[in-house]
Amino acid sequence: MTHQVKGVVAKSKGEPVSIETIEIPNPGPGEVLIDVKACGVCHTDLHYREGAINDEFPFLLGHEAAGLVEEVGEGVTDLIPGDFVILNWRAVCGHCRSCRRGRPWNCFSTHNATQKMKLDGKELSPALGIGAFAEKTLVAAGQATKVNPEAKPEVAGLIGCGVMAGLGAAMNTGQVSRGDSVAVFGCGGVGDAAIEGSRLAGAHTIIAVDIDSTKLEWAKEFGATHTIDSSKVDPVEAIREITDGNGVDVAIEAIGLPITYEQAFYSRDLAGTVVLVGVPNPEMKIELPMIEIFGRGGTLKSSWYGDCLPSRDFPMLIDLYLQGRLELDRFVSETIELDEVEEAFHKMERGEVLRSVVIL
Ligand SMILES: NC(=O)c1ccc[n+]([C@@H]2O[C@H](COP(=O)([O-])OP(=O)(O)OC[C@H]3O[C@@H](n4cnc5c(N)ncnc54)[C@H](O)[C@@H]3O)[C@@H](O)[C@H]2O)c1
Ligand SMILES: [Zn+2]
Ligand SMILES: [Zn+2]
Repeated sequence: MTHQVKGVVAKSKGEPVSIETIEIPNPGPGEVLIDVKACGVCHTDLHYREGAINDEFPFLLGHEAAGLVEEVGEGVTDLIPGDFVILNWRAVCGHCRSCRRGRPWNCFSTHNATQKMKLDGKELSPALGIGAFAEKTLVAAGQATKVNPEAKPEVAGLIGCGVMAGLGAAMNTGQVSRGDSVAVFGCGGVGDAAIEGSRLAGAHTIIAVDIDSTKLEWAKEFGATHTIDSSKVDPVEAIREITDGNGVDVAIEAIGLPITYEQAFYSRDLAGTVVLVGVPNPEMKIELPMIEIFGRGGTLKSSWYGDCLPSRDFPMLIDLYLQGRLELDRFVSETIELDEVEEAFHKMERGEVLRSVVIL
């Protein structure tokens, strides 16, 4: 038996998305069917619809989601129908060479559902192996992490991508710690989460950089101690001024552009760390003098999903939220219907929202 549900599909490169009736099989071994309750609109969904990730159209978009387990397949032992879960797009395998070396957050063989969801008989590519702008979706059991159901779905779902990516870029990848100085380039949902993560980790100087003055105002609410409008001033010089001429300990790029990566590279102190969490498109290139890479020392890192471990981090972050120690409500700019995703992309492009969240 298959389930027929509505979902948001990107059929071809750059074309507006449409609502389609998709087919979802019953969960097979190791799979779970999720009754999606909320799914945030992340910039990565827009990257998919623009063909910037790959060209495996049609895509079933949406990947920042929370919902209820509806049905579990054979062999699924740690979830039961009714569990409130956050979906994740890096379900670690436990067996690959990275997992075996005790680095599961880098898992090289993460799990997705084996069976395919379909549109008119054609296999859909679910965004990041999730596809949650849909009434239901099919994922691998490891992609669903049980959390305290007291958290509202529209808030909990954000942990499933942008917020986790940003918090983790600061706390896990960048290893921001007490007394550090941090600069965050790009103050969308991901960048603001990096700002919040830096604050939680004890950074004492947190510099927000964006070209949009509204975003900079919002960044202050998440904990930025300084803001720089890089459409008006050179951010590298401005960051040096704030940090006694030295630069920051950790520079986090949360946009995915060569120009802002370079700015991050040059704005850090000697032996500092650059973290790339923004996703570049395949054509982008950077050119840096090699002597600067050597001479400045330190570390250049990329952050996949904030180097998180969903089973360790999601329940903990939801608990912090419920205790009032993690600001999540502020990320939700608006709640929308499934048929408003295309408009939400435009609002994102115009810089009007941090997160539009589809409620189902
Ligand atoms: N690494 C990961 O695991 C991961 C996870 C989720 C999202 N991402 C990526 O993170 C990036 C940010 O996502 P988001 O949802 O926050 O996007 P967003 O569009 O909400 O935010 C981007 C921000 O960058 C600013 N910006 C754009 N160009 C700029 C420039 N030249 N200089 C300074 N600021 C500039 C915009 O004004 C905006 O505030 C995207 O590339 C997304 O694909 C990565
Ligand atoms: Zn693995
Ligand atoms: Zn995302």
